[in-house]
Amino acid sequence: MFRCIFSEGQKYKNLLNGQWVDARSGKRDRILSPVDGALVGEVPAMSPEEAGEFLKTAATAQKSWAAVPVSERAAILHKAADILLSEQVAIAGVLMREIAKNKKSSLSEVTRTADLIHFTAEEGKRVTGESLSSGAFPGFHETKLSIVNRVPLGVVLAIAPFNYPVNLAASKIAPALVAGNAVVFKPPTQGAISALYLARVFCEAGLPAGVLNVITGQGRSIGDFLVSHPLVNMVAFTGSSKVGKHIASRVGMKPLLLELGGKDAAIVLEDADLALAAQHIVAGAFSFSGQRCTAVKRILVLDSVADQLIGHLLPLVRKMTVGRPEDNADITTLISRDAADFVQALIEDAVQKGAKMLTPAKREGNIIYPVLFDRVTVDMRIAWEEPFGPVLPLLRVKTAEEAVKIANDSEYGLQASVFTESIDEAFRVAAQLEVGTIQVNGKTERGPDHFPFVGVKSSGMGTQGIRYSIEAMTRSKAVVLNFN
Ligand code: NAP
Ligand code: G3H
Repeated sequence: MFRCIFSEGQKYKNLLNGQWVDARSGKRDRILSPVDGALVGEVPAMSPEEAGEFLKTAATAQKSWAAVPVSERAAILHKAADILLSEQVAIAGVLMREIAKNKKSSLSEVTRTADLIHFTAEEGKRVTGESLSSGAFPGFHETKLSIVNRVPLGVVLAIAPFNYPVNLAASKIAPALVAGNAVVFKPPTQGAISALYLARVFCEAGLPAGVLNVITGQGRSIGDFLVSHPLVNMVAFTGSSKVGKHIASRVGMKPLLLELGGKDAAIVLEDADLALAAQHIVAGAFSFSGQRCTAVKRILVLDSVADQLIGHLLPLVRKMTVGRPEDNADITTLISRDAADFVQALIEDAVQKGAKMLTPAKREGNIIYPVLFDRVTVDMRIAWEEPFGPVLPLLRVKTAEEAVKIANDSEYGLQASVFTESIDEAFRVAAQLEVGTIQVNGKTERGPDHFPFVGVKSSGMGTQGIRYSIEAMTRSKAVVLNFN
């Protein structure tokens, strides 16, 4: 039975200094399911004044948390991961209702997160410093020894997006905690209940009061206050490039980790295994209905093999099921009407400018049926904008150089795929692409979660990935011994 009582019926609370609390005003945000509009629950709408209390609590608790031996911090994380795993069915059920992620992907978000937390707990124990002798530097004798340690930054503000409210919360919370930081976590409003389930898991695992605090409220109401607050020592944000850039303009002199939008290209060269490429492209483009930063968001294919590639793509796209998350449909409703309207506008723009729709465009409520476009050209919005929906544009190119140019002309630079049988060609193209990661003969994707995950240009700043995140959430501190 749970000790941490985080709700009264459908009224969920926030975690502050080990207590589950409501907003003083009594104000709440109602979270409706994108699937059928039914109420999933209500979460507190905290005010900026209250947000200040969350930060003060974290700053106080951090001092004693940093003094806890890392093996004990790691043990609490391991326990949290075990509890999370035991709760996978319940939490996946909430994800299905709250963000319309299908059953398989919801379960895998939870189990992947448990693995991430376990791995982070172990990696945290391996964070080591170094010692440097002055004799290595010209003009110095062995008169000084610098002993360099990694120390926590203090209070990490973690902000997650709707599409991975559990995993992209834990990918910030776990490395911050194992490194000795305290955390204030602001979940996405649509996704807040799933995120509060994660917070309860940490509470049940025995995390000391105040070390993790979770505050809900609209980003536009409390976001600026939180990111610019002097008690925040670092901001770790995942979300849209628009909000990420806004945050960057507000944080001031604090380390900032930004994971933002993408327009990942799948480049298909003449010698590619086209059946394999098609499988990866369709899986990469349409999982969670295209609502992934790393979704394949455009195909750049050599004209000479474009028809053949389409021959492989079409049956896979047509085979996709459309329906409800609990029935494990491949395509489910988009997160909101605004999101569906945006995707529809991109589709209409492409049709009006002469793109060839290979699968029929159909919309039922906020469900957009999967669309594959051929003959997309660079004057169309869909060639450049991130749809965050199930629409995949195919652009025909004459050469690999043209593919690289179009790929790089994007404002984004998250990932890209190159499909080819030639390892030399793969490396030649990879060297020219302005992105954080290139997948050779595979779909674009973030995992496994210990790999570095980097966005360049409007796709982000800094490196995520278990060890990289721990490094980003610590700093060097040196003590120099002088041998007089
Ligand atoms: P979003 O609208 O940018 O929101 C992300 C988070 O920021 C939410 O928690 C939101 O809270 C909060 N927020 C909004 N305004 C804020 C402000 N002024 N200050 C501080 N926080 C604020 O993004 P989304 O719609 O949830 O997610 C989709 C986007 O995220 C896509 O562009 C996708 O590519 C990107 N994404 C990137 C990655 C990556 O790793 N590169 C991963 C996942 C998603 P509210 O919900 O309360 O508004
Ligand atoms: O939406 C952005 C996520 O970071 C993508 O992660 O590639 O594992 O789905 P994923």
